[in-house]
Amino acid sequence: MNTDVRSYAVSWEAYWAETAATGQSSLWDCDPEFASARDLPHFEPHLDPDQTLVDIGCGNGTQTRYLARHHRQVIGTDVSASAIETARAHDPDHSYLVLDLLDTPAVKALHETLGDASVYMRTVLHQIRPEDRPAFAASLRTLLGAGGILALVELAPGAEDYLRDLVSEYGSPPALTRVLDTGVRPGSVDRDEALALMGRDEFSVLAESDTTVHTTYTLPTGQQAEVPAYFMALRCREGSIQRR
Ligand SMILES: C[S@@+](CC[C@H](N)C(=O)[O-])C[C@H]1O[C@@H](n2cnc3c(N)ncnc32)[C@H](O)[C@@H]1O
Repeated sequence: MNTDVRSYAVSWEAYWAETAATGQSSLWDCDPEFASARDLPHFEPHLDPDQTLVDIGCGNGTQTRYLARHHRQVIGTDVSASAIETARAHDPDHSYLVLDLLDTPAVKALHETLGDASVYMRTVLHQIRPEDRPAFAASLRTLLGAGGILALVELAPGAEDYLRDLVSEYGSPPALTRVLDTGVRPGSVDRDEALALMGRDEFSVLAESDTTVHTTYTLPTGQQAEVPAYFMALRCREGSIQRR
């Protein structure tokens, strides 16, 4: 089987099961100080305190745990059962759920349970294959309904060049090799594409800024590798839900 077309559940479960078994770190799994803590101030003012915040593709829950300290109701979801098991072990007080965002019935069932929810999603969309992105965005719209906001951190177009240069200068960081070995192929989704996927007429941009994905890889210079990225927060325009 061509590893590039394995399901997300198969590829990512292989990754997270090995991570749990070996205790190795993940390239993006930095301290929240360099991730969700930097992002939250950009979207917290827009969050409805009574709404659930769903961390989609939460991995081992490092960022979810930070968000849960600052928002009343937070749920972490991920396609990998091993990732969710690790997240639950770190944080028995919050809900973590195995969920493939491409599983439309499961996404609808979650929306029925939660009502309109807000979403935090850090470095997930770029590894969804282009042909799957419209369905992935449709699931996000289902979760958000008319009232949720989407807070998104994604690799910027310069990320691929950055990683290519880094590999050619220093060799492949072991934490990157481990991801590539599962068949997952990082790409990038620029702001225009992300907005077009969600629906340019249906969503307005509440906040956006350049940022980086602060990695766990220390360069020979002593600095951490910082992959170019952007933050964007979107909200459904009033009235557009009826047009769907
Ligand atoms: C690069 S990791 C980012 C993890 C986490 N957001 C963070 O910042 O630490 C991407 C995550 O997306 C999850 N993922 C991949 N495809 C998914 C899908 N179809 N549905 C839900 N989660 C998915 C993976 O299991 C992985 O944990």
